[in-house]
Amino acid sequence: MGELEQIAKAMVAPGKGILAADESSPTIKKRFDSINVESTEEARRGYRDMLFTTAGAEEHVSGVILFDETIRQNSADGTPFPKLLESKGILPGIKVDAGAKDLPGAPGEKVTEGLDGLRDRVKEYHGLGARFAKWRAVINIGDGIPSDYCLDANAHALARYAALCVEGGLVPIVEPEVIMDGSHSLETCYEVTARTLQKVFTALYEQRVPCEQMILKPNMVISGSDCSTQASVTQVAEATLHCFHRSVPAAVPGIVFLSGGQSDKAATAHLSEMNKLGGGPWELSFSYGRALQAAPLKAWGGKSENLAAAQKAYLHRARCNGAARSGSYSAEMESQAA
Ligand code: 13P
Repeated sequence: MGELEQIAKAMVAPGKGILAADESSPTIKKRFDSINVESTEEARRGYRDMLFTTAGAEEHVSGVILFDETIRQNSADGTPFPKLLESKGILPGIKVDAGAKDLPGAPGEKVTEGLDGLRDRVKEYHGLGARFAKWRAVINIGDGIPSDYCLDANAHALARYAALCVEGGLVPIVEPEVIMDGSHSLETCYEVTARTLQKVFTALYEQRVPCEQMILKPNMVISGSDCSTQASVTQVAEATLHCFHRSVPAAVPGIVFLSGGQSDKAATAHLSEMNKLGGGPWELSFSYGRALQAAPLKAWGGKSENLAAAQKAYLHRARCNGAARSGSYSAEMESQAA
């Protein structure tokens, strides 16, 4: 097995998933605003240091996605973050896209930027210790959208990114996120997610990206956040699996879901149910940002005296999601920790 296949398999090792800690500067500012903490470079470093030094997290976390600033920062004892993670057997990853921008001539739609100079940046990040990368495309659902124009532009960029990563020795996490905002139904989310995935895998095939050397990071098939009828956990799990069976090649080693604004418990319950139903050719795992960090962020509140409580909250969510990897998460796990 080649090196990239091995890394991709390690990213979705049984019982483990990925921590997405790659919030861009504007996004981490939003998260810090919610707890009334000023987003200084030191506060961002300290917060991420709290997450990365959590003892035992490595039992449930296979990799961490970093932001450009973070991959260059150090833990309190001076150890560079990528080295610290590596020493715990956690793979360091890096967000390489430059964000979703307005797609010209397409109101309400986005296209992700960041391809210019990417070959050189991949090389630099590899030298800094990164072993995988992430690029996020944003697909909005609304009146008459997404258009094929938007889906094609984003699929093309995702495949260009993935091909450059494979060339440069990083496993690409290919993330087409169908956004949950809106009053659309589960069926609409299914249809848009299927259309998106089919275009993404066509572009990956055309651009010669080997499926074995990548990881897919999609949304789950869920009801829009403002939809009056919210689908049950079983409905979400069944619809998501049905959609992915039709759209994702069996050669892809793993699917790591994003949480996308679901509550942390809902994201864990959905993943667990999918693994309970099982039957897919790929590992079904997580690459959560908010669903892993909401609790520790709140417990931390920007105060060093809360570090232990924040680490406990993070470890608890990591453990619950680790259990969801084998379908063995239960509501009792939440009350036991309380
Ligand atoms: P969420 O789980 O908060 O959606 O974040 C995952 C992520 O990396 C989005 O790009």
